Amino acid sequence: MALTSQLRSGFIGAGKVGVSLGAYLKSKGFDVIGYFSRNLESAKNAASITSSSCLTIKELVAECNLIWITTPDDQIEKVWNELVHYELDGKLICHTSGVKDATVFTGIIAKGAFGYSVHPMRAFADKTGKIEGLETTCFTLEGDPTHYQQFKQFFRTLGNKLFFIDRKDKPMYHLANVMVTNLVLGLLSMGSEYLSQCGSFSEGAIEALLPMIENNINNLKRNGFSNALTGPVERNDLGTVIRHFDILSPCDLHIYKDLSRKILDLAVKKRPKRDYSSMLQILETAGLDYTRSN
Ligand SMILES: NC(=O)c1ccc[n+]([C@@H]2O[C@H](COP(=O)([O-])OP(=O)(O)OC[C@H]3O[C@@H](n4cnc5c(N)ncnc54)[C@H](OP(=O)(O)O)[C@@H]3O)[C@@H](O)[C@H]2O)c1
Repeated sequence: MALTSQLRSGFIGAGKVGVSLGAYLKSKGFDVIGYFSRNLESAKNAASITSSSCLTIKELVAECNLIWITTPDDQIEKVWNELVHYELDGKLICHTSGVKDATVFTGIIAKGAFGYSVHPMRAFADKTGKIEGLETTCFTLEGDPTHYQQFKQFFRTLGNKLFFIDRKDKPMYHLANVMVTNLVLGLLSMGSEYLSQCGSFSEGAIEALLPMIENNINNLKRNGFSNALTGPVERNDLGTVIRHFDILSPCDLHIYKDLSRKILDLAVKKRPKRDYSSMLQILETAGLDYTRSN
């Protein structure tokens, strides 16, 4: 099999991940041959950003030995079912889904190719070819062990940390990723909706919150969960938590209680001698009347 320096990447799916990954590989001196996508315009845009070519699938397969399927998860099997019509001997075929594993490549051994899921642990929000932040992104590999060493070398050359994962763990792995990215956005949106109901915050609530959000994450980075912990649950400020329950929208009751219970677990670990029993009782009983009557 080719050495890392001989790997020639081609991307099927010129969206956020395909363009960003291609631009990143290119910036690190790797060969990016080109793109195929459902719409020609997307492939042209990606090719122009990465100074590569807009290809047919046939050309891409012929010219590349590292084939990235960067379509939505639901399209991966469909693309694979097209790829099997071509000569794939010795090629590395990767998709970038967090939840799917390499068994999506049905019959790949008979084709003489090697299948992998290679998941970048990052939220890609655009397809402009921005590579800022990619250097610190961790990648997670799962699939045919034959080329594990080669992938290790590949990511070592790129300078990115590589984790290995068993396919049975992928759904939980993905759940973890979604919780700390997508679901956090849901929570931030909920918080900024509350703030926008307060005085002059009706415009620009999130802008006012962002410095505090960043400060909170920086505290976590520097000090870990336990020492980054602040707020009324950790302080054991019962009155403050009760006031929140007075004004909380009933549909947000569960999320407030569940997350506060998580915070309480961290607080108990941080301050084992503090008596949090009243706080626990409030968190367990608040809103019960509402829950029962609905
Ligand atoms: N976005 C993230 O934060 C992120 C992070 C880690 C992993 N991932 C994974 O990366 C993969 C791609 O996600 P994404 O966010 O980059 O999606 P995306 O922005 O929607 O891009 C997907 C691209 O695939 C193209 N496409 C769709 N069906 C196709 C087909 N049958 N044949 C060829 N091209 C097709 C689309 O085409 P046209 O533009 O040509 O219509 C689109 O440009 C997914 O497996 C996702 O789970 C995403």
